[in-house]
Amino acid sequence: MAEFSDRANAIKPTGVRKMFDLAGKEAIHLGLGEPDFQPPEVAIEAFYDAMKEGHNKYTTTAGLPELRAEIAAFWSDLESGLNEDNVCVTMSGTNAVLNACLCFLNSGDNIMIPDPCFPLYGPHATITGAEPRFYPCTFENEFVPTIESLEELVDENTKAIIYNFPSNPTGATITNEQRDELLDFARRHDLWIITDEVYDRIIYNQSHVSFLGAGYDNVLMIQSFSKTFAMTGWRIGYIVSSNLEIMTQIKKMQYYITACSTDAMQYGVLAAIQKANYYPSEMRDAFWQRRDLICTRLNAMPSISCHVPEGAFYVFPKFDLPGWTSVDVALEILKEGVVCSPGSAFGDAGEGHLRFAYTLGMEKIAAAMDIVESVVERIKDSPPPTQPADF
Ligand SMILES: Cc1ncc(COP(=O)(O)O)c(C=O)c1O
Repeated sequence: MAEFSDRANAIKPTGVRKMFDLAGKEAIHLGLGEPDFQPPEVAIEAFYDAMKEGHNKYTTTAGLPELRAEIAAFWSDLESGLNEDNVCVTMSGTNAVLNACLCFLNSGDNIMIPDPCFPLYGPHATITGAEPRFYPCTFENEFVPTIESLEELVDENTKAIIYNFPSNPTGATITNEQRDELLDFARRHDLWIITDEVYDRIIYNQSHVSFLGAGYDNVLMIQSFSKTFAMTGWRIGYIVSSNLEIMTQIKKMQYYITACSTDAMQYGVLAAIQKANYYPSEMRDAFWQRRDLICTRLNAMPSISCHVPEGAFYVFPKFDLPGWTSVDVALEILKEGVVCSPGSAFGDAGEGHLRFAYTLGMEKIAAAMDIVESVVERIKDSPPPTQPADF
């Protein structure tokens, strides 16, 4: 048989999906990162109306000019002078990350990626032939990297660094001072910054701190409407940068990836931005209550402790169960009917943690926490399974 490419052989299915596939019908799902809300009604209606009105064609590669102008206006408070040329609509944040990697990386280059992280970053770098280099974001440092740890990894082949705040899977955020230090690090080493800020609207006691408009021109922001308007299944996101040289490359590349995004859907998103700008805060308020519940419950359990995350809808507790891996613990919890993700699915530094996405209502979360508590009580003094899980 003919051989598959090295890049196909090098990438593996993610542990988040595997857990999901193992779950029974009745399971309580705190595994996948998608809001349990519908997109705003005005967006659904506008999408439908646009289809009926004949918007079922290719659009310009970079997306509808009206939509790009709205997006540029949204970010103009941070970065003045943005206009539709600074925006490229993509078919998701995932597509946007891949596009950025394809534009910045050659084989032989390396790119610095947080560990733990959104599991697609590493494979996206691998697909380009570059080396993903993981920098630790530890529990002890509230999941923010230290500059020393970054300095240890960077070399003359490092082209770019990915930052992701608020973070998946940790929910970590940064202060303005931390952002400036991370930005200075990139500037010192002449790196592209790919800043994934798809959770910018799900943020609790503070304001979102962005790398856009912070005084460095080599910044490209990844965005998505998946989390902002609960549109995970629509597949639409965008890239924004003040640097028009970057945007020219990005738009050229986007053409060869998807040609353009979905015509009618872009009208739906436009309506969401124009008429349902309140929506992300409403969802955020619901997540806030759930965050407080799940963190209180987890921190009251033996052998478990978590930071209270300031953003996104994930909590990433660490556990102290000697000999148990995160896959073993997650599988034990799954047997009792709750789906969560093993921390190792997000990188080596995720071992010893679990990720819960608090994307269900309060009652379900409370029921899930009862189950998790009983599992932890049961296994805390038990030896781990002798057979490693086939995972
Ligand atoms: C940090 C981060 N970036 C990007 C994405 C991609 O979002 P989408 O491809 O749905 O736009 C996700 C999805 O979970 C994410 O957590």
